[in-house]
Amino acid sequence: MLDKRRILLIISGGIAAFKSLDLIRRLRERGVIVTPVMTKAASQFVTPLSVSALAGKKVFQDLFDLTSEAEMGHIELSRSADLIVVAPASADLVAKMAAGNANSLASTILLATDTPVMIAPAMNLRMWSHAATQRNIQTLKEDGIQFVGPNEGDMACGEFGPGRMAEPLEIITAIKDHFTEKSASDLLAGKRVLVTSGPTHEPIDPVRYIANRSSGAQGGEIAKAFMALGADVIFVTGPADVQPPIGVHVIKVETALQMLEAVEKEMPCDAAVFAAAVADWRVADASSSKIKKEDGRLPDLEFSENPDILATISNRRKDRPDLVVGFAAETDNVINNASRKRLRKGCDWIVANDVSPETGIMGGPENVVTLITSQTVERWDRMSKSEVARELAMKIANVLVRA
Ligand code: CTP
Repeated sequence: MLDKRRILLIISGGIAAFKSLDLIRRLRERGVIVTPVMTKAASQFVTPLSVSALAGKKVFQDLFDLTSEAEMGHIELSRSADLIVVAPASADLVAKMAAGNANSLASTILLATDTPVMIAPAMNLRMWSHAATQRNIQTLKEDGIQFVGPNEGDMACGEFGPGRMAEPLEIITAIKDHFTEKSASDLLAGKRVLVTSGPTHEPIDPVRYIANRSSGAQGGEIAKAFMALGADVIFVTGPADVQPPIGVHVIKVETALQMLEAVEKEMPCDAAVFAAAVADWRVADASSSKIKKEDGRLPDLEFSENPDILATISNRRKDRPDLVVGFAAETDNVINNASRKRLRKGCDWIVANDVSPETGIMGGPENVVTLITSQTVERWDRMSKSEVARELAMKIANVLVRA
């Protein structure tokens, strides 16, 4: 899996630089083409000669070496790899990256590149815990830099704590994960997936409506997870608290009737996930003007039942999606109620969750779900809504690619 991958390895200054030699050796054993770059400080810890001998390549060290025509320019160098790995990443280089400095070859490459970057920080634990470093780390995370380590342990300076560079094998695992995730990014290329999300609002009159507590967070995460797998995502959302993810085809609706119409219009699709908390009832005859309060008289509201969108799509004769997945929001008897719901609505899978107020699930960042299929009942650990989304999307993708 790593064979013929091109990695630009930047070694910055620090005692952990000696581990980079082992990293190079192990990467090359796996067929990786390693182009080494060293900072000035790095050459105080390991010699460019040993780095180039292990890499089987010239070491790039100086920004101004690269100006002659025979050499690769730094822009070209920064783009000549599938991944840039910085190991060890010293506090100084981390700070330069966060600030966008370009006063050395390493920092210039890191600023000029559009290649993914992974760093393995290594520094004294006080430098690591310092507010300035933590600020820089936060900035790099927001910039999309991937991290491996640092680990906790005995440090060369005699202290114990976080700041040790990740071991070469851990770095190799992180590199493999990076390439696996990347290859998953076109797993669902060409597949259309529809996701419903959020609550619906059912008007009573032009200013009042019936709603529920759904924030739309879980549905939004599911749409994002499908997008990460390369699917074309149609996102039909009620008035949710969270913004729809960027990059999906968003269709905004208010009511259950509008949601059904939008969903039917978007058929056919390969899979559909119904994460919306659709209101079961609507006011039969919503008033077109504001209902006035009259002394002692209560409004006379009559309700009609909303169509069941999930059941409608599950029972389509023509153009039924290959996989229809519903959610079951329950407060009691979660598994039994959800299993019955799956059969009643005719969907293939149902994701059951306990939405009792004490679980903090509705509107909260986490979810505890049980995936019920015709064959299995799988209880998942408590996870963030984005992890639930990724697991679910991956399971659905596995079915779609086999279909
Ligand atoms: N659903 C739907 N259309 C509706 C009601 C629900 O598509 N009119 C979908 C939801 O998106 C979810 C599933 O059906 O995927 C179950 O929703 P839930 O609120 O748990 O169930 P209800 O059908 O409303 O049943 P109950 O309120 O009795 O639990």
